[in-house]
Amino acid sequence: MLKHQTLLLIGIMVCNTTIGMAQEIVAHRGASYIAPENTLAAVELGFELGAEAVEVDVYLTKDQKIIALHDRTTKRTGGAEYAVAETDSDVLRGLDVGSWKDPKYAGEKMPFLEEIFEVVPEGRKLVIEVKSGPEILPYLEELVTKSSIRDQLVLISFNLDVVKEGKQRMPFMPTYWLLGSFNQYSIAEAVKIAKENNFEGLDVNYNLVNPSFVKAMREAELEIIVYTVNDREVARILRDLKVDAITTDRPEWLREGL
Ligand code: G3P
Ligand code: CA
Repeated sequence: MLKHQTLLLIGIMVCNTTIGMAQEIVAHRGASYIAPENTLAAVELGFELGAEAVEVDVYLTKDQKIIALHDRTTKRTGGAEYAVAETDSDVLRGLDVGSWKDPKYAGEKMPFLEEIFEVVPEGRKLVIEVKSGPEILPYLEELVTKSSIRDQLVLISFNLDVVKEGKQRMPFMPTYWLLGSFNQYSIAEAVKIAKENNFEGLDVNYNLVNPSFVKAMREAELEIIVYTVNDREVARILRDLKVDAITTDRPEWLREGL
């Protein structure tokens, strides 16, 4: 609450001095407010609802397939509990990851990354959040390199080793390091690491955004993506702070509020 109030005060301070600027909207785990997260239904709905990009979380399965899921195990969204990294994809694909959200989504399967590639429209982007460690990267590189939508793909991860090695393997791929706090790394350290590794920018919890952070990022010519904003008032403050992209579970609703 305190963080929200601080952000609100900052917004009031800056909003009279800024002009409108279009932020990109990133549908978080697809249009996950309505459809079951990280499914093809959620990805397609995210694009239908006008998001410039859709974000999905991915893991490497035991049989080395890249599959979409947020949690380390399938318990929350798939009923039975399997650790994704220790399970073959045919078992994971047998799970219904739609019913927990709404019976009308019964039968939704955990999608393979290459299936998600097929539903990305021309001119839109897919933001791939790697939840595994760097062991996923040779397989990701192979899929990305042979994909016809290579130039529409973006890499993000909280794991610094993943984004570092990902950028080395796929220098053409816009890459953003995810940060949930500045406890381990200060703003200055994060900016320095992003520049040293040729990242396009940082993807941060929206509570971390304030004028001094924006200034440091702009001076370093780094882009700012924020997650996960489901509050229109907060989104307007972030718009006025001129972040580049806003990640939300509710793409159409949030944009209407901007
Ligand atoms: O887009 C970044 C955001 O998705 C990170 O948080 O837990 O929802 O994956 P999480
Ligand atoms: Ca994510």
